[in-house]
Amino acid sequence: MTEQLDKLNRLPLRDDLRGLSPYGAPQLEVPVLLNVNENTHGLPGHVREAIVAAVSEAATGLNRYPDREFTELRDRLAAYLGHGMGRDNIWAANGSNEVLQQILQAFGGPGRTAMSFPPTYSMYPLLASGTGTAYLSGKRTDDFTLTAESAAAQVRDAAPNIVFLCSPNNPTGTALGLDVVEAVYEAGEASSAIVIVDEAYAEFSHTGTPSALELLPGRERLIVSRTMSKAFALAGARIGYLAAAPEITDALRLVRLPYHLSALTQATANAALAHADALLANVEDIKGQRDRIVDELTALGLTPAPSDSNFVFFGGLAEPHRIWQGLLDAGVLIRDVGIPGHLRVTAGTEAETTAFLDALRALLSQDDAGRAGVGAAH
Ligand SMILES: Cc1ncc(COP(=O)(O)O)c(C=O)c1O
Repeated sequence: MTEQLDKLNRLPLRDDLRGLSPYGAPQLEVPVLLNVNENTHGLPGHVREAIVAAVSEAATGLNRYPDREFTELRDRLAAYLGHGMGRDNIWAANGSNEVLQQILQAFGGPGRTAMSFPPTYSMYPLLASGTGTAYLSGKRTDDFTLTAESAAAQVRDAAPNIVFLCSPNNPTGTALGLDVVEAVYEAGEASSAIVIVDEAYAEFSHTGTPSALELLPGRERLIVSRTMSKAFALAGARIGYLAAAPEITDALRLVRLPYHLSALTQATANAALAHADALLANVEDIKGQRDRIVDELTALGLTPAPSDSNFVFFGGLAEPHRIWQGLLDAGVLIRDVGIPGHLRVTAGTEAETTAFLDALRALLSQDDAGRAGVGAAH
């Protein structure tokens, strides 16, 4: 046991937090960072200038608390989402992680349960444990898909208070059909389950993929969560949001910290939304690189999952950790999500994607007959 762990264990930490590890994707200094599904394209110069001007203006009023209701931001997010959303349907916080945490604070907690379907976003169980909510793992098929029938049956059996559906799913990248959301919502009727559809990567979906925003009218237990970290290239600014019935946002007002969205965060988000078209222009480029990765990995004999996101989850690797390390040694950091035979890579700029594909090709061809690193492992 390390000295630090020893010291931690001497503290009167909550029993349910003892032995847990914090969220911790590696933050390493390497030339090509493709491990946490960031938008690899920087902000266009004129958008950066607009944000700096807005932040500078907001700084003149920093002696005062910010608008607790972030009214302008809610109006702008509602206009961006469309689907008949208005200010009262919108809530925002410091990243969608905080939005999800607030939902658990309001609807989860001791004696309550939250359910999701691994492999999925690794923060769901951590957010559950942080709020004293018991976490239930649902099951997917062997190819990581989730059908409406299976998801609904599992929700009916487990009767959770909260269900997380991640679409497109992290780490697999694939979007869920709306039939899954509808079936889970209906199955959650008996336990009055809050159903969250985490659409952090929605903007990267293939054309024609529907959003669960369509299902919101008449479904007061349904929440669609989104973020400006991915398509808007603002991961560093920490802005996430949701759309739901107005009474859901009223529930979140009971648990949010006063003035939780700083004036600087609000100014940044408002300026970015005023330039949404310019920021989202890179989404098409990223989708192109994503599709290129899928095609080239397939040509290499690997098995990428269909991706509606800005990353690709791929299998067919006999020794994924060795490949991950080899890529890192070549200056390319991707993600080992701990699933046998698989790795996950974020779509980069054209040059970054080329660096990843070249390094991977070289690693695979170093192996016997060019294939010892590729096997039937799934
Ligand atoms: C599925 C999913 N949801 C939510 C988040 C959280 O994003 P943020 O807190 O930056 O909005 C992430 C981040 O990677 C994610 O992959």
